[in-house]
Amino acid sequence: MEPGKGIGGRLLGLLLVAGLALLRGSWGLENGLARTPVMGWLHWERFLCNVDCRADPHNCISEQLYMQMADIMAAEGWKDVGYEYVCIDDCWLAARRDDNHRLQPDPLRFPSGIKHLADYVHSKGLKLGIYQDVGTHTCAGYPGSFGFYELDAQTFAEWGVDLLKFDGCNFINLDMLIEGYKNMSLALNQTGRNIVYSCEWPFYLWPFVQPNYTDIRKYCNQWRNHGDISDSWNSLKNIISWTAAHQSVIQPVAGPGGWNDPDMLVIGNFGLSKDQQVTQMALWAIMAAPLLMSNDLRNINPDSKALLQNQYIIAINQDPLGIQGHRVTRASHDFNCWSLMLRR
Ligand SMILES: *[C@@H]1O[C@H](CO)[C@@H](O)[C@H](O)[C@H]1NC(C)=O
Ligand SMILES: *[C@@H]1O[C@H](CO)[C@@H](O)[C@H](O)[C@H]1NC(C)=O
Ligand SMILES: *[C@@H]1O[C@H](CO)[C@@H](O)[C@H](O)[C@H]1NC(C)=O
Repeated sequence: MEPGKGIGGRLLGLLLVAGLALLRGSWGLENGLARTPVMGWLHWERFLCNVDCRADPHNCISEQLYMQMADIMAAEGWKDVGYEYVCIDDCWLAARRDDNHRLQPDPLRFPSGIKHLADYVHSKGLKLGIYQDVGTHTCAGYPGSFGFYELDAQTFAEWGVDLLKFDGCNFINLDMLIEGYKNMSLALNQTGRNIVYSCEWPFYLWPFVQPNYTDIRKYCNQWRNHGDISDSWNSLKNIISWTAAHQSVIQPVAGPGGWNDPDMLVIGNFGLSKDQQVTQMALWAIMAAPLLMSNDLRNINPDSKALLQNQYIIAINQDPLGIQGHRVTRASHDFNCWSLMLRR
């Protein structure tokens, strides 16, 4: 943790050179946001599309869930170490838009509305994230934003939303997918509100073409490259291997304002051993990944909590130069060496 002065100095010099290269010119989304990777909580991996509040009121997707997470994030040290965004994923919507084509939350599960929820989250000194989709429907089948980008951006801004996770299910075709992601970025900008824009554009392109990351970085603050994480070592290994295998393409584009998103932290759930949880935290820090936990903060193991709140690891992730680490050697199937140093 504390390298000798000489090595530290040399390391700093190298990092500075890289930093200057990164900061030169405008090569990213110029909204001033996500200068370091976003930190917060996102419901998906842990709570999925649980909409049955009658059978499972404590864990269903409802305003109460986000209020409880906000309370805990403010009260139990999470906010103090940097976790700031409380994020809603799919399944918050009503089945239809209202008579003016506006989005509306499910009235039973969000009786006070999203504006009220945003106000509540803001009162805790936190920010609210929401979810929509570039296509005709969200992945779970709720109304998508296709044809309504400006109206939906305006709605989110009026509600006081601070981050949009924009999924890519049910897109019309590849051109419309790309155009849709760009149009939503412009629509968010035109609202005048600071809204972090989280994309899945490259993930939906990879099966067909290699995505143009220069282009993606111009429109998005972070972007998912592969499928959803699940609560297992196998899933974690797949994501780490994918990232290493594609690092020559994806590593150089990461930096302040725009980040590769290897998906949620699943630390504190059921599927990872203690060492595997340490591995996720370390690798996500090295990869300059957004740190979005998906777990139940109301009931979390103290070791997992201490790991997620470890300020030394977080400091690596939040390094202002924002250089994504990369794999330097793969000595064997079981032994990989990763570095925070400059590119190969
Ligand atoms: C994107 O915006 C342009 C300009 O307003 C419009 O012509 C185009 O149809 C939009 N594309 C999509 C997919 O909404
Ligand atoms: C919108 O884009 C302009 C030009 O890139 C930028 O200066 C401005 O800060 C952006 N505004 C918001 C709210 O993102
Ligand atoms: C990628 O997009 C940029 C514009 O953002 C463009 O200048 C460049 O030519 C594109 N690259 C390829 C290979 O299409």
